[in-house]
Amino acid sequence: MGAKVPFQQYLILILLVLGGIVILNLCMPPTSYPPLFGGGVQSELHQADLVQPARLEFTALRRPVATLPKNWVSHNEIAIQALFQCMQNVNCGQNQTKIVLLQYHPFIDEIQETHEGGEVIWARSTVRALERLGYTFIYSPNNDRAIQLYHIFRGLITAIFTEESDVNGCYKDPKCIQSVKNPSGIPLWKLFAWNWWTGAVGPLKNKWTMNPEDYQLEGKGFRPNNYLGYSVEPACSARPFVPHSERKRQAYVLAKEMSYFVPKQTAWASDFYDDAHKAADVEFVSGVRGQPTPDFPSRLTNLGYMTPSDFYDHLSHSLVLVGVGSPLTQVPLYLLILQI
Ligand SMILES: *[C@@H]1O[C@H](CO)[C@@H](O)[C@H](O)[C@H]1NC(C)=O
Repeated sequence: MGAKVPFQQYLILILLVLGGIVILNLCMPPTSYPPLFGGGVQSELHQADLVQPARLEFTALRRPVATLPKNWVSHNEIAIQALFQCMQNVNCGQNQTKIVLLQYHPFIDEIQETHEGGEVIWARSTVRALERLGYTFIYSPNNDRAIQLYHIFRGLITAIFTEESDVNGCYKDPKCIQSVKNPSGIPLWKLFAWNWWTGAVGPLKNKWTMNPEDYQLEGKGFRPNNYLGYSVEPACSARPFVPHSERKRQAYVLAKEMSYFVPKQTAWASDFYDDAHKAADVEFVSGVRGQPTPDFPSRLTNLGYMTPSDFYDHLSHSLVLVGVGSPLTQVPLYLLILQI
């Protein structure tokens, strides 16, 4: 019995010493551990060198929305953040988890306001529709970016609206297109080629080729692509209506190029404009780019290439819109601006 007493005393002493070391450690900041345990590789590190998450400002990770530049990068940032947030809070809108990648270049021209042509007007109308339906859309300038986004969002990406060259480029690139060897690639059926004209694009052809106009109306036997259509209504309704009594006795002739007046192609012979002027007392104006050619009707006043706002202005002060046969399908669209 007597021999066991010193052993228990030693045990208590050892436990007290160990307990003391533990308490001492808990009271010290973590950066002072290395010297305590004989230095080590981290002894060169100073506290200031360490990243301290608590000190990172939230705004350094993401700037306030109001200060973001208006470009596609900022749009992506806002859209992705909203998507992650709604998924975390389990309160996404009905279509918010359906992502559409916008890779047809006019989509980027539209948001950056770098260009204003028919393709951009088509893109703007599409973006408005996606916004209204509550889809998440993310801009992607090329296939490399699309692949990265596809690796992140996968099944959430429902469609990619892209260039003809990028559909074919991805299809031919084993690292881009989904296949047995590349299961994390982009499925071919998610790639939609955006084409202003009538050709069919890519291996999936017509149904995967989007058109702004219904070219079947031209009656030339084109195999129909996927007719999407577009609207200029917001741009029209933003302008004041000009009462007919305040308009000029003016007819607007819709034509962009001098080549539209080549006799074989144009809808009206040159003397049509003279006769119509005499019969109805109207002046004819147009906004055609380039130098006038001998085919350009002398009765027609060319206002030249103009801004969209000037174009709408001349249209809204006209009594009638005259098509010249090319392009066949766009005239009805701009009748809206005349609001006849
Ligand atoms: C979601 O999109 C579908 C078409 O894909 C549409 O019919 C529906 O109205 C949209 N939902 C909302 C809330 O806009």
